[in-house]
Amino acid sequence: MSELKRLLENNRAWAAERVKADPQYFSRLAKLQAPEFLWIGCSDSRVAANVITGTEPGEVFVHRNIANMVVHTDLNLLSVLEFAVNYLKVKHVIVCGHYGCGGVIAAEGHTNLGIINNWLRNIEDVYRIHREELDAIKDHEKRVNRLVELNVAEQVLNLAKTSIIQKAWKDEQRPVLHGWVYGLETGHLKSLVEVKDASVLDPVYRYDNL
Ligand code: CO
Repeated sequence: MSELKRLLENNRAWAAERVKADPQYFSRLAKLQAPEFLWIGCSDSRVAANVITGTEPGEVFVHRNIANMVVHTDLNLLSVLEFAVNYLKVKHVIVCGHYGCGGVIAAEGHTNLGIINNWLRNIEDVYRIHREELDAIKDHEKRVNRLVELNVAEQVLNLAKTSIIQKAWKDEQRPVLHGWVYGLETGHLKSLVEVKDASVLDPVYRYDNL
């Protein structure tokens, strides 16, 4: 119970600090959120979206799951994407992976993890697409970290494959999709890919009646 008490006490101290600095802080935020960014990140406790980007409550709409995946049957992700793109009108969608990701390490390995296997299978598909490059990397840590990068790029493409994104591009020339990776050992974010239109997609994925 004492761990929880710490969180609740921290919360009161934080709220008091905010009101002291800006008496309207909560009443203003309570009325409206207008974030410019949707963040799709890993659930890993060390990759806290607001903390590592120095952003405040109200600035980033956040979705997190194991290994920052964009899975087309994931109703949760699709609902977040639809809301962020079509109602909040975000300008940027960021998929952020991180080196040393436990989900990617597990996908690269061969341990049966029960129901989690089915989630990690999406990362195994990324490995299969890039098998030649990945098999050539003999150092395990380097191979996993390259798979982290390739997985981020693939999830950005998965966003581009959705009718939600393709329609927003056609109607409003937004959002820009970004693939980033975070270094647990440096605290630094790095940009890997940026996608602004459907030209990166194989034609088989494009819709013509948006
Ligand atoms: Co992770």
